[in-house]
Amino acid sequence: MTLNEFPPDEFDAWAESYDESVRTGCGFPFDGYEDVLQTAACLADVAPGDAVLDLGAGTGNLAVLLAAQGARLWCLDFSAEMLAKAREKLPEANFARSDLRAGWPPAFQRRYTAIVSGYTFHHFPLEEKVAQIRRLFEQHLQPGGRLVIADITFPDAAAQEACAHQLGSEWEPEYYWLADEALRAFKEAGWQAEYTQVSPCAAVFKITP
Ligand SMILES: C[S@@+](CC[C@H](N)C(=O)[O-])C[C@H]1O[C@@H](n2cnc3c(N)ncnc32)[C@H](O)[C@@H]1O
Repeated sequence: MTLNEFPPDEFDAWAESYDESVRTGCGFPFDGYEDVLQTAACLADVAPGDAVLDLGAGTGNLAVLLAAQGARLWCLDFSAEMLAKAREKLPEANFARSDLRAGWPPAFQRRYTAIVSGYTFHHFPLEEKVAQIRRLFEQHLQPGGRLVIADITFPDAAAQEACAHQLGSEWEPEYYWLADEALRAFKEAGWQAEYTQVSPCAAVFKITP
């Protein structure tokens, strides 16, 4: 089944109210949002001066946590309005409006100590997630670096099905992570992965080549 693509203008329209929806939201899909981002920031394990790329940076909530640890930030997102919000919070960071699956501007064509992403990879099917991660490892991660992905994730298909059943007509199918199949795919690719289920519907993966 191919699921809906969400174009940049849908995220542009959400930018003004995004922070309110994540912070006041409880239950699916933003259950535990603050803890999820804190866990990701902790697992990114950055030191002052480290170069960090945030893919699908949105309004900059994850990037802000990393900047507070002294990281230098490169924030990429295809929504101009989301990036405008992030710019207000992160005046020192680098920004690019680009689809993360496309070619990036020259200033972003470099290697990073850590690459992070919050609530973005669930827009892509698993094969595409794996292909993107491979590209990040081959072209953008420094030796010894790490990729940290925080996203809507269920432990397995049964847990996702139970959530869908509970939500009924409010359930919106997307390519949410299923931790068991993702961990199998990472292992097949030869990568090391650490997985932390932070809330019933969100987890953080730390992946290294
Ligand atoms: C749900 S928001 C998450 C924002 C932020 N990372 C957070 O954790 O709150 C998803 C973000 O990913 C961006 N996005 C979705 N698909 C994208 C793509 N293919 N390329 C670049 N950005 C994308 C959207 O514009 C949006 O800002």
